[in-house]
Parts: sequence; structure tokens; C-alpha cells
Amino acid sequence: MNRLNKIYIGTNTKMYKNIKETTDFIERLQDLTKDIPRDVIELFVLPSYIALDGVSKVANKKLIKYGSQNVSFEEKGQFTGEISPVMLQEAGATIAMIGHSERRNIFNETDEEENKKVKSVLNNNMTALLCIGEKEEEKEFGISDEVLVTQLKKCLYNISDKQAQKLIVAYEPVWAIGVNGKPASKEYASKRHIKIKKVLEEIFSADVAKEIPILYGGSVNKDNAKELIQMDGIDGLFIGRSAWEANSFNEIIRDVLKVKNLI
Ligand code: PGA
Repeated sequence: MNRLNKIYIGTNTKMYKNIKETTDFIERLQDLTKDIPRDVIELFVLPSYIALDGVSKVANKKLIKYGSQNVSFEEKGQFTGEISPVMLQEAGATIAMIGHSERRNIFNETDEEENKKVKSVLNNNMTALLCIGEKEEEKEFGISDEVLVTQLKKCLYNISDKQAQKLIVAYEPVWAIGVNGKPASKEYASKRHIKIKKVLEEIFSADVAKEIPILYGGSVNKDNAKELIQMDGIDGLFIGRSAWEANSFNEIIRDVLKVKNLI
């Protein structure tokens, strides 16, 4: 299996797009990108839960994969307000994001919970997109790598090699995300990606670890996407604001694929 012979590019629409806006976005993105061969790109969108069913009606899964921004660690039971991986699959979702910085920092999710979620998603044969990243003060203290090691070892505790074949990691430094974020320099991001790969090699067998895609996220835009994707260790991009308009997202996708000589 070669998971890294293509570029991974995805967006999380956060709590911005309603159902109609989401389906319009998917239809437009699909149309704009339909000529791009899907053996060079894995394109995915993570809309709000409530839009998933609508997305299932318009999305061509050969063109766009879709999934959730969060997930319950249980499949069923007394967990009011939660959505299980089984329910997500019913709506056609094949990916579930786990541990986005907003989940960790606003909703106080812990690495232990993320670990349970990763297990639950992988046990249900979905792709788990695990987000990790250090906070600004952790970077200032020079402990970014230590934070990433801890997050990876805890969140991926007791995950088998076989399960890791459906794992994707997104490195998103907390200080780089969102309206007040400043993007990581390409050198800084690349160093962290290389470290993450090394840690994955400690957790999983080398063959499996080297195939786990590691995406960079945090203020990716049309200007920095091309340089980030050319850096060692960066297998894809996970984009927020700059991807929410289909035309601009399509431009970024094409820029990235062109610079990698894939189109
Ligand atoms: P941003 O969001 O690209 O708007 O910084 C990234 C993210 O939250 O994943």
C-alpha cells in the first residue's frame, strides 16, 4: 500500500456553513475540480454534523470524501448530545476529525478522550484524522516537540499497526490557527513534521508509520500553500478560512498540485 503517492487536502468548515451553504459549496467544489485525477489528490470536507445528510445526497465520493468535525467515543448509549461513528457512517461519512485545537481548548477535551475517540473511529473502520499542536507559550518555552510527543503517545495509545493504516495526523500549531493566527514558517513546520514522523515510527512499525499522512494546518492560504507543500515531511494541507469559498479553494488545490508536478 502506498498512501503517500497523492496529496491530501481538506477543509474543516467549523461552525460557519449552514446546510444549504454546505451543499452548494460541495457541488461547486466538485464541479470545479472534477477534471483533476483522484489518484493524485485526496480531497475532503468536514462540515457540521447537521449538514452531513445533505452532503450525502450531493457528494460524489469518488471526487470528495467527507466526514465529521468531532465524534463520540461510544457507539451507542446514554450520551445525550453525542454522535457516534455508527451514526456518522449512516450519513456516508468516512472520516472523523479528533482533537481539533478548538475542541481541546474551548471544550477542554483531553488526550485521554482523544485516544478513546481514535479507537472508536478506527474500530468502526473509518479514517481518524487526529489533530495535534503546541500552544504559543509551549513554543516560547522551546517544548513544542515534547508537547507533540506527549499528544501522539497518549492519543495513539494502544492503536495497532493495522488500525494505523486508516490514521491521518494533522499538525496544527494552536498559535497559527484562525483569525488571530500567524502561519508557521515552512522551515518550522517541516521540522515538526519530521519529528512527528519519527515518533510515529516509535509507536508503529516503520512500514506503517512511514505511510501515515501528516498534514499541516494553521493559516494556510494561497501565498504559503505552495511553499509548505514542497517541504520535507508535509504530505498535505488542512485549511480553514482560505478554503471556504470554492473558487479560491480550487486555485489553492491546483497551485499545490502543479508545484508538485502532479497536474
Ligand atoms: P485556518 O484554520 O486555516 O482558518 O487557520 C485551520 C483549522 O482550524 O484547521
